[in-house]
Amino acid sequence: MWGTATSSHQVEGNNHNNTWWAWEQEPGRIAGGDTSGLACDWWGGRWRQDFDRAAESGQNAHRLSIEWSRVQPKPNRWNEAALDRYRQMLRGLHERGMRPVVTLHHFSDPLWLAEQGGWENPRTITHFAVYASRVVEALKSYADIWVTINEPNVFATLGYVLGLFPPGKRDLNAAFQVMTNMAKAHASTYHAIHAIQPQAQVGLAVNYRGFDPARPWFPPDQFSAGLLSRLYNNFFPQAAKNGDLRFITKHRKLPQAKNTLDFLGINYYTAENVSFAPLSPAELFCRRAFPVGADLSPSGDIANRPEGLFHALKWGLGFGVPIIVTENGVEDSADRLRPRYLAQHIRHLWRAVNFNYPIKGYFHWSLVDNFEWHNGWTQRFGLWELDTETQARRKRSSADLYAAICKQNALSSEMVAKFAPELLKTMFPG
Ligand code: FCB
Repeated sequence: MWGTATSSHQVEGNNHNNTWWAWEQEPGRIAGGDTSGLACDWWGGRWRQDFDRAAESGQNAHRLSIEWSRVQPKPNRWNEAALDRYRQMLRGLHERGMRPVVTLHHFSDPLWLAEQGGWENPRTITHFAVYASRVVEALKSYADIWVTINEPNVFATLGYVLGLFPPGKRDLNAAFQVMTNMAKAHASTYHAIHAIQPQAQVGLAVNYRGFDPARPWFPPDQFSAGLLSRLYNNFFPQAAKNGDLRFITKHRKLPQAKNTLDFLGINYYTAENVSFAPLSPAELFCRRAFPVGADLSPSGDIANRPEGLFHALKWGLGFGVPIIVTENGVEDSADRLRPRYLAQHIRHLWRAVNFNYPIKGYFHWSLVDNFEWHNGWTQRFGLWELDTETQARRKRSSADLYAAICKQNALSSEMVAKFAPELLKTMFPG
């Protein structure tokens, strides 16, 4: 599968019944005071033209998410019209020769759920499984690859440790509670989906961040990097594969979660160097930084570390299930770095495929610029640029590069010469 990935709140527009919309109304929460507003107006129907763009560019799959607050606007109310709209979208993908990969939870929650304590409340586990079953029942003729929860590790870290996502807490105990409930919700949803659709492929998408010891020969740095990687990267796949919950010094068993991964979704963006920081207990004695001279995105949030994708895939191999790269990309409105970033990451994907790693697909983040959470509209990840005033799309050069890759199922020296000539000598020597 070659495709792009999107999420409901980021592209649909007018999602006013969820936690993110409420968060956007609070001053100081979103960069530049931005709001999602109409976003890419997919709810208004502009998914059609965007799916046309994707299909014409040789993409044969698309990953999107379902908005819980639309499907279940109140605890005792189900919106059939919303489900029907999603059915149309999935049918629209099939009509264009694209296979859907459907995410059931991508950061946003219904307001009624948040009012009951959200993911800190263990009752959310059942609520989620009930909602997910309803969606799978409604959409099962159009989709059979399901991501239960997108980046539960980011949801817990940004929402409950760093305070950047709703509910804006900084509380490690709450984070552990949320992570535990999300692991349990994944497990019960996995079983619920298989009961409805036995042939379903059900997985999780984790955000994998590379944590390399700043001084590889220095044991304390190795320790710090290992600690972060186990906590951030391993927690969810380990729970879903082995039924083990490991959080710093806490260790619990979750037998019902064992073997609840048909595939592992990996979202990879960047890698950092980690050094041991004895004076920073709040940061778990870790200092994180990009290497000096790193090839950085405009905001400095992403360093182009393509070898990290290979490491991520190698790490993913350890869970013994097929892998889908469910997200990879970079914010770059001028599209200066993206062609190089894309070519180099695809090269490392190719490397892994050549080692026979069971990689089933690659989804670039994202098809069109969309509402980038707390960074609002300041970070642009689209292959197509979006003018939020007029809803006009403008193709970036990377869209042509990615189209060539998808159509030829390959990355050629001609493509690199044309789109990222600075790489030609090192990538295709001789
Ligand atoms: C990932 C999220 C996705 C998008 C990209 C840039 O962490 O899953 O929604 O924001 O980052």
